Amino acid sequence: MKQQTKVHSSLRTIEWKNNTVVMIDQTKLPNKLAYVKFTDYKDVANAIRTLVVRGAPAIGVSGAFGLALAALQSKAKTKEKLLEDLEKAKKVLFETRPTAINLAWGLEKIMNVAKEGKDVPTIKESIIQTAKKMAEEDIEANKKMGKYGAELFENNDTIMTHCNAGALATVGYGTALGVIRATKETGKQIKVIATETRPVMQGSRLTAFELKHDGIDVSLIPDTAVGYAMSKGLVNKVIVGADRILRTGHVYNKIGTYQIALMAQQHKIPFYVAAPLSTFDLKSDPEDVIIEQRKASEVTGVAGKKTAPDGIGVINPAFDMTPPELITGIITEVGIAKPPYAESIKKLFELRL
Ligand code: MRU
Repeated sequence: MKQQTKVHSSLRTIEWKNNTVVMIDQTKLPNKLAYVKFTDYKDVANAIRTLVVRGAPAIGVSGAFGLALAALQSKAKTKEKLLEDLEKAKKVLFETRPTAINLAWGLEKIMNVAKEGKDVPTIKESIIQTAKKMAEEDIEANKKMGKYGAELFENNDTIMTHCNAGALATVGYGTALGVIRATKETGKQIKVIATETRPVMQGSRLTAFELKHDGIDVSLIPDTAVGYAMSKGLVNKVIVGADRILRTGHVYNKIGTYQIALMAQQHKIPFYVAAPLSTFDLKSDPEDVIIEQRKASEVTGVAGKKTAPDGIGVINPAFDMTPPELITGIITEVGIAKPPYAESIKKLFELRL
């Protein structure tokens, strides 16, 4: 097989530059690749809430950078007062989006570093350094995940993906799309089918943009064509990301993931999930997980134009849960978990230690 040139991902979603947080404004894509800069943690919280930055790993690192800004903004003279200011900022950042566990993970990691520090200047510095390291580690984890995942895909596979679990959902490279990039890097020829992902259109606005940007063959389908594509033999494998994975292998991801997994089972198409260990929530049970409900206007209109009658009732959950029996494998940066997940996930965490 012919070796391909390196498939790079030139999109860097979030960065710490001269004490500011720089992000791609994802609400402007695909029409404009624009960057926004923040020096106030409240603006970072607002960016997470309004989907300027989105995707579980990306909001985890954004939370960490948000706390780094809060540390710089604090006028505290004592460690106690600084911790108080950070707790306040953590609450504001935490309340932005409830389902992706990476946000809580990122905030907790920074708070632990702050608690361990001895005085105000060293705490501020170690928070910034830790947040920057988390950003770099996110890319490294995605690349490792890509290497493991690439073994599951074959030459000439057409891979379906849902939402955006790419460079734009992480700091760079991506989880599900990272596996796709890594598969291409091995020299295998692959094609991607991306779902539009109504109502916020992460598939058409972000995945299609990102893959096209990096020269990966991608076709877009409406969400309603998943069954058609599978029944016509147009898809060999499915790969998606995750916002939270429980110790039992229950996967929370973008609304619509569950129905794709069910259809994949019907058509005997392997269904894979790619996510870093920071997406696992080993404590919660399904009834503990809060599914974010988003505003009705996302469903009652398209691009600001009304497509439903006034006063219509709307149900608009942002995520759903795919049960473990529909999942062929979960790809992480330390290896691939296969059913039964209670055992294999436990092993992955032991490997990390
Ligand atoms: O609402 P979003 O755009 O933040 O939802 C994102 C997803 O559901 C992604 O698939 C998930 O976060 C995995 S990202 C690597």
